[in-house]
Amino acid sequence: MADEQDSTTEPMDAKAAKRAAKKGMFKRAVEQVSGLTTTTVKEGEGFVQHLYDDYETYRKVQEQGNKAKLAAQFVKKGHIFFLAEWMQTQRAGGAKITFGLCHGVRRGKEQAWFRKKLKGADIIGTDISETATQFENTVQWDFHDDNPDWQAKADFVYSNSWDHAYDPGKAFRAWAMCLKPSGWILIDHTRGHMPKSSNVLDPFGATRDAVIRILGESCGDLGQVVQVLDRTGDEEYPSTVIVFQRA
Ligand SMILES: C[S@@+](CC[C@H](N)C(=O)[O-])C[C@H]1O[C@@H](n2cnc3c(N)ncnc32)[C@H](O)[C@@H]1O
Repeated sequence: MADEQDSTTEPMDAKAAKRAAKKGMFKRAVEQVSGLTTTTVKEGEGFVQHLYDDYETYRKVQEQGNKAKLAAQFVKKGHIFFLAEWMQTQRAGGAKITFGLCHGVRRGKEQAWFRKKLKGADIIGTDISETATQFENTVQWDFHDDNPDWQAKADFVYSNSWDHAYDPGKAFRAWAMCLKPSGWILIDHTRGHMPKSSNVLDPFGATRDAVIRILGESCGDLGQVVQVLDRTGDEEYPSTVIVFQRA
């Protein structure tokens, strides 16, 4: 995300200093990858897509960006706990959540937090970068690709990293194919996912409506968007969550 933020409860000075340091880290990360390539910018209704020359360039940019920001964390524990509890409420009296996927996890925090709440569930994180193997329950994997081991197995797929997609429709379809019947894709949408936030490292930016439209176009035969969870009042991680459910 182009504007990842800090959210600790430290005194304001320390917090502001930390935020400035982080801003510097993100700016440097974008500057570094900008030296690797330039992109062609495509604009559509409610979205901006930066196009790379080829797949190898995309991989290289994402990996370098990942390494430059390896110490950072975007989503907060409270948000992941909220989503875990929301899923448990939906499933109350029904089948337990046993398997989930989190895409673009960097340090693997989100699957660790989901695991804490959804006791006993196997939850795996993916990252395109070779650094993935440094973190627990994380595999190196490009989230656009179909993984035969995951087809129709997941109770849910979560991501806040869809703004790193070179082809969001392809990625969403690959995620939907992993869902069991009635399983969910949970897609965070924040200020940092908007079109104006896209850049050479975060190549896709879209309004919430555009994401919902692309989900319909790419996966409409597999399910539909059933709900948008409003978390805009959350101080730590103001967001909405687009919920796609597999038929
Ligand atoms: C903005 S970070 C978000 C990390 C984490 N979700 C968080 O909340 O802190 C995006 C992550 O997605 C990864 N990524 C980018 N493209 C990817 C792809 N095609 N498949 C899997 N991971 C990808 C990057 O390497 C990076 O670690």
